[in-house]
Amino acid sequence: MRFSNAFLDEIRDRVSISDVIGRRVTWDRRKTNVSRGDYWACCPFHGEKSPSFHCEDRKGRYHCFGCGVSGDHFRFLTDLDGLSFPEAVQQIADLAGVAMPQPDPQAELREKERMGLVEVMEMATGFFEDQLQTPAGAKARAYLRDRGLTGRTIETFRLGFAPESRNALKEFLAGKGVPKEAIEACGLVVHGPEIPVSYDRFRDRIMFPILSIREKVIAFGGRAMSPDAPAKYLNSNETELFHKGSVLYNHARARKGAQGADGPGTIIAVEGYMDVIALHQAGIENAVAPLGTALTENQLELLWKMTPEPVLCFDGDGAGIRAANRAADLALPFIKPERTVRFALLPDGKDPDDLVRHEGRAPFDKVMAGARPLAEMIWGREVQGANFDTPESRAALEARLRQVTAVIADEDVRRHYQQNMRDRLNTFFRPAQRQGGGTFSGNRQGKGGGRNASQANTAPTGISDRLMRSALVRGAQDLPALRESVLALTVVNHPGLLFSDYDEIAIIEYENRDLQRLWSALIGIAGAIGTRLERDRLIEELEAVGFDTVLKTLEQQVRNSRLWTATVEAAPEDAREGYLQALALHKRTRALLWQRRELERELAVSTEEGDGERVPQILRALQEVQQETVRLENQEAIIEGFGVLSGRVKGPAAR
Ligand code: UTP
Ligand code: MN
Repeated sequence: MRFSNAFLDEIRDRVSISDVIGRRVTWDRRKTNVSRGDYWACCPFHGEKSPSFHCEDRKGRYHCFGCGVSGDHFRFLTDLDGLSFPEAVQQIADLAGVAMPQPDPQAELREKERMGLVEVMEMATGFFEDQLQTPAGAKARAYLRDRGLTGRTIETFRLGFAPESRNALKEFLAGKGVPKEAIEACGLVVHGPEIPVSYDRFRDRIMFPILSIREKVIAFGGRAMSPDAPAKYLNSNETELFHKGSVLYNHARARKGAQGADGPGTIIAVEGYMDVIALHQAGIENAVAPLGTALTENQLELLWKMTPEPVLCFDGDGAGIRAANRAADLALPFIKPERTVRFALLPDGKDPDDLVRHEGRAPFDKVMAGARPLAEMIWGREVQGANFDTPESRAALEARLRQVTAVIADEDVRRHYQQNMRDRLNTFFRPAQRQGGGTFSGNRQGKGGGRNASQANTAPTGISDRLMRSALVRGAQDLPALRESVLALTVVNHPGLLFSDYDEIAIIEYENRDLQRLWSALIGIAGAIGTRLERDRLIEELEAVGFDTVLKTLEQQVRNSRLWTATVEAAPEDAREGYLQALALHKRTRALLWQRRELERELAVSTEEGDGERVPQILRALQEVQQETVRLENQEAIIEGFGVLSGRVKGPAAR
């Protein structure tokens, strides 16, 4: 009987290889390092006096440097004890406490089909690679060249080109005798009951094959070359071969890349295919990426299988920060002693690809060196942008930190996190002493030098009072910023908007708590009802869960400010235009906010360390951010002042 790979992997994962081998050998105390899962013994296969037989739990493999035998759990049992493969599987399954699978003819058939699908995917990969070299592929070659990729990189990653025609791949595969069902099962064509003739899913795109850990092509990502194509990247749908939440782009190669002379190195998770590839070309071969979704729990587990402390790298823009925060929440419950994550945030909305394109790996290495621990990330998130000058707000912060750390399952790590947060709180709320000159506040007009108590209670260090009150940070307590109200209310009044660009819109984050809650509820309702969702129904559902007051306030606020595009009367195109403007502003604002926080954090550190050179640089950068912030605020003020978000709409009176 054939065992599924999933089953074999499962039992192999549950039993460490040292457990299997340890029953037959005595470990050498001196060479063995149990905490690293690194074991040495005299080889049971060839008899020797000094230990040259080695096994490593992380890899699940053994190797003898004396006689050269090597293998995994099953191989050890078949070779040493002469068991048949199924007998070896049975033994490991017993150790794992997992029942053996019952013979399932259907499953065996599926397994055979899967093998077939892998072959089809391989044929498709070859086809795309060949197409890149044809005259029709010239545009794609030029595109890749413009993005700085060498021929060698293109070969390594097996990049290809999907021609523009509707049937190029389909016909190629059919010509090779691949049955229609297999082409469909691979997700290579768009098909379905409403589609009379299936057609190629990927057309006129650069093709990125996605490989399994066994280095078989199981899916594709396709990038449009023209900036106005409807979807920049199109990825394979879920198939029998491909479950995108459990796959990492470049997994196998990065695992090898991370394996240095001194044990497993780190693994870097970045956001995109191009980032992985550009890093590889710059000599950084240990990067992986998720596949068009936020990092999943499964992917995190895959990272931890390779390294105890992967570095999660995100763009320093609003979306990147949100993604980083989501990843932090995802990781928290599962961290353990020697199993955590770090965060590297890239400067000025750049991605790793931008960073290494011109200057090589140095700027990226610098970002990696500054990667922040998870605890710092969590702390920063909870204190940023809020004011803590009342006992109530401090108590609330303390409670929130308790809640956040409570999800950590490992008791010791949880205790240490809670201690760590208490320490941070103590330092944060301790009345600041006068410090020497050179702090940011010391340079501000109208204030004496040094930090005063109220500033010390204000996060982050040195943020100006004016900014604290400005539209960018206000919110948590009183009315939401108008921009946020417009974003939320426009969608309530024109729910169709939500579906035209769901992925981007659904993840918007609001400073204002009420709005954030309203938004979560709205997304939930939209998810349940789907594209049939209409305004009246949505409002009814929102009111049913207690949002009537919030909705009334929003409506009032928006009407008072005469922002008609957010109202029900606005024509759909106008609503959309106003919405997009507000969204662009929102994103830019969040990005600036983050930049400022980063700079202020850096400033605090540099000031403390007395880095006289860096301080003026940071101050200059802060000034620029501040100017840009004011420009944005003015822009927003103009928009608010004229009472229109889109110049074309003059409100109901003008209709
Ligand atoms: P980015 O938009 O950051 O793209 O998306 P990128 O990696 O920088 O790509 P280039 O440099 O513009 O070519 C990051 C990742 O999100 C997924 C892809 O996996 C992409 O690599 N994505 C992005 C999609 O799946 N669909 C999209 O439309 C956009
Ligand atoms: Mn990019």
